[in-house]
Amino acid sequence: MIWVNGRTDVDMEEVRPIIWNGTTLYLLDQRLLPEEEVYIPCKNQKDVAESIRNMVVRGAPAIGIAAAYGMVLAVRKADDQGQRNVLTDSIAEKLQEAALLLKETRPTAVNLAWAVERILKKAGTLDGEKPEVMQRELEAEANKMFQEDIEVNKRIGTWGAELIQDGSTVLTHCNAGALATAGYGTALGVIRSAFAQGKDIRIFADETRPFLQGSRLTVWELQKEGIPVTLIVDSAAGYYLNKKIINCVVVGADRVAANGDTANKIGTYSLAVLARENNIPFYVAVPFSTFDFTIETGNDIIVEERESREITHLKDTTLTVPGISVGNPAFDLTPVSLISAFITEHGVIHAPNREKIRAMAHRGGSEVAGH
Ligand code: MRU
Repeated sequence: MIWVNGRTDVDMEEVRPIIWNGTTLYLLDQRLLPEEEVYIPCKNQKDVAESIRNMVVRGAPAIGIAAAYGMVLAVRKADDQGQRNVLTDSIAEKLQEAALLLKETRPTAVNLAWAVERILKKAGTLDGEKPEVMQRELEAEANKMFQEDIEVNKRIGTWGAELIQDGSTVLTHCNAGALATAGYGTALGVIRSAFAQGKDIRIFADETRPFLQGSRLTVWELQKEGIPVTLIVDSAAGYYLNKKIINCVVVGADRVAANGDTANKIGTYSLAVLARENNIPFYVAVPFSTFDFTIETGNDIIVEERESREITHLKDTTLTVPGISVGNPAFDLTPVSLISAFITEHGVIHAPNREKIRAMAHRGGSEVAGH
């Protein structure tokens, strides 16, 4: 019997970026896809932090869930024989240290802080409990977050599918699929849901330079399920949008400010401008765990700058002249005015603004206090 993420009814045919077996966290190494499917075992919070920083695991919800399991690992101490881990006494201290370590790995996706804080909050309710109880309860909380993420994505998918016309062509950017979440995906969840309803849809995925989440990950996921997909270079999007060959754009998000300004993979803003210019709807599929109500606008979102080698090299091949100065922001900011709608787990927010976002959060019971 296979037992993963707290469940036994697991379909291992599905894309599974995060597997927890009760003692070890296994992360599908997304740097090697699509050529190789290799899982990296993480035995402690440092392994998890390293895997987030190095993009073994990526995508806002996925790094949040991985960090939650990193917190669970932090309250264990592996013994030398590699037997089942034993607990240490100073749990609160260990959790605080792990929280700091995990939160600083990637600055833009708010799901990371959200997930770590949720585990800390749970730990706070267990003050005075025996270590075994604390460990069991935190593990149960991480498993719950994992399952909730999949359910939330399915709800996003159901709402979003209503916006996808039969016979239409949808452009997506980066990878906001099963690989970027606990499973099913946000933007790709919308696409999966529309396809499952029998709609005749075609997807355009752009490459998403420099990490190539589009050409390596999104097309891999879609092809596995037989969803028709065409790969284009990032700079071809304008051509297809202008020709009306693409009928709508659906992307994910890494952090959404209280007013709706959205940080997502670099290139998202350009697509939003192109979509507006060509009168094509631009949708952001996003769970409420990605909203950051502590910041008013996108100006307060920290954009991660990644190393120049991602741009100057493709694996070991040099792509440019030595010593060239490189700019590599991993994300950009799309003003809310360019977003036609947010597709959330509670419903669709058309022509979004601060008030409509808050109203939807309240209606669905999501917290608006911030993380
Ligand atoms: O740098 P990445 O690959 O972690 O960036 C991922 C994205 O920008 C996704 O669009 C976003 O996290 C949403 S994933 C559901």
